[in-house]
Amino acid sequence: LDYVSRAEYDYLLKLLIVGDSGVGKTSILQRFATDYFKDDYVATVGVDFHIRTIDVDGHRCKLQVWDTAGQDRFRCVVSTFYRGAHGAMICFDITDKDSFQNVQTWLDAIYTSCPEDTPVFLVGTKSDLQYKRVIPYTIAKAYADKNRLVYLETSAKTNENILICFEDFTRSIVAHKNQMK
Ligand code: GTP
Ligand code: MG
Repeated sequence: LDYVSRAEYDYLLKLLIVGDSGVGKTSILQRFATDYFKDDYVATVGVDFHIRTIDVDGHRCKLQVWDTAGQDRFRCVVSTFYRGAHGAMICFDITDKDSFQNVQTWLDAIYTSCPEDTPVFLVGTKSDLQYKRVIPYTIAKAYADKNRLVYLETSAKTNENILICFEDFTRSIVAHKNQMK
């Protein structure tokens, strides 16, 4: 009886993934949640979510990850999902300058709906496309440091850094929650 009544997790966390259309938000989440990658692009309509439970530092964390549409026409609808998020990932594509320039807009949008101390990660996507890179690592890292964000680069295609990214992100959120206790 003790076994069945035990909670299935220590933390239930709501995470957001935002960023321009086509940067690879759905791909990151699909890789993380189902270890799957596809080359063709299907734009997310509104929002979608996946659940995966991971263990970090001995805590069982059930992650409810919201994948939002990057297309402008969904911006209004999507922003209604920001409230109550424990953390947000802002994605840009290291091969797409505009997507990096728009990071500030996404950050402002998050801080409009979430407290300013909400953990935010900046994620440079498509790290397998080094030959097409236009945003140097050092530029993105400097921006992140200035805005007190953590910076990581991932590839949903090769699976580089995907799990580490979600683990680090979850660890930051758990640490932040414990700090507030
Ligand atoms: P919206 O839903 O419109 O906001 O776009 P999104 O950010 O969810 O982008 P999505 O994950 O659908 O990916 C867009 C395109 O980029 C697809 O064709 C993916 O196959 C491709 N892509 C995503 N991640 C990677 C990656 O790590 N490497 C490479 N080479 N391509 C990727
Ligand atoms: Mg998508």
